[in-house]
Amino acid sequence: MSTLKNKTAFITGGSKGIGFGIAQALINEGVNVAITSRSLQAAQDAAEKLSSDKAKALGLKADVRNLIDQEEAIKATVKEFGQVDYVIANAGLGHFASIEELTDKQWRETIDTNLTGVFYTIKSSVAELKKSEGYFITISSLAGTNFFANGAAYNASKFGLTGFTQAVMLDLRNEGVSVSTIMPGSVSTHFNGNNPEEKKAEEAWKIQIEDLGELVVDLFKMNKRTLPSKIEVRPSQPGKK
Ligand SMILES: NC(=O)c1ccc[n+]([C@@H]2O[C@H](COP(=O)([O-])OP(=O)(O)OC[C@H]3O[C@@H](n4cnc5c(N)ncnc54)[C@H](OP(=O)(O)O)[C@@H]3O)[C@@H](O)[C@H]2O)c1
Repeated sequence: MSTLKNKTAFITGGSKGIGFGIAQALINEGVNVAITSRSLQAAQDAAEKLSSDKAKALGLKADVRNLIDQEEAIKATVKEFGQVDYVIANAGLGHFASIEELTDKQWRETIDTNLTGVFYTIKSSVAELKKSEGYFITISSLAGTNFFANGAAYNASKFGLTGFTQAVMLDLRNEGVSVSTIMPGSVSTHFNGNNPEEKKAEEAWKIQIEDLGELVVDLFKMNKRTLPSKIEVRPSQPGKK
């Protein structure tokens, strides 16, 4: 089995939720991890929780909606760890309202974060990923293939992200850079104001953040000649709500 020890990962939005779960799984494999947040305090608090004797976590303030923030965060990661092998574009949010209620501000925040933010993330890291022949993962959603009422902004951002990632995969695969999008269904996180800590039993049927961490580790360990480029992940028994 291949080892990930001493590799470096860069994860947008690692202060909580899925990004934090992926960071935790990678640290356990000996991968040094840089995580970002809109808040320096939140990034550093999470990094402190993540760091262990196996690997180090670095907390950085970087808003994915800002290209310069992303470029600076990648530079800081290279300065600290010397390289970037894995980039996980995870940061995201959702506003859910009917088209009559949806505001211009909610629309822009959703598209700027979930879609343009990922564009900025790969633009600022592609040179490093080419050097390391690394791996770029985006966290889309089942909302990136299934549409629903009140989902106009979120569906548009995630359908866009699914297509964007597949095109980037074709651009980069012959450069030795692997690209996948993970499309989860319901995951127990802080998404949309949820509080998973208060709902452990109630949300036991949902995908847990450590399950997605395990999936990412499996992808990174897979033989480079094979690429699961688009991965739908769902709770196996949603009826048990
Ligand atoms: N939960 C689900 O059921 C589910 C299902 C499918 C897909 N997803 C996707 O999974 C991804 C992670 O969501 P989650 O469920 O883990 O939600 P979460 O618990 O709310 O975490 C969201 C993360 O994104 C960060 N973030 C948000 N806006 C940002 C920005 N502009 N710049 C940098 N970081 C930003 C947050 O950091 P700060 O708040 O500290 O800035 C936080 O670390 C999202 O792309 C979401 O669409 C979630």
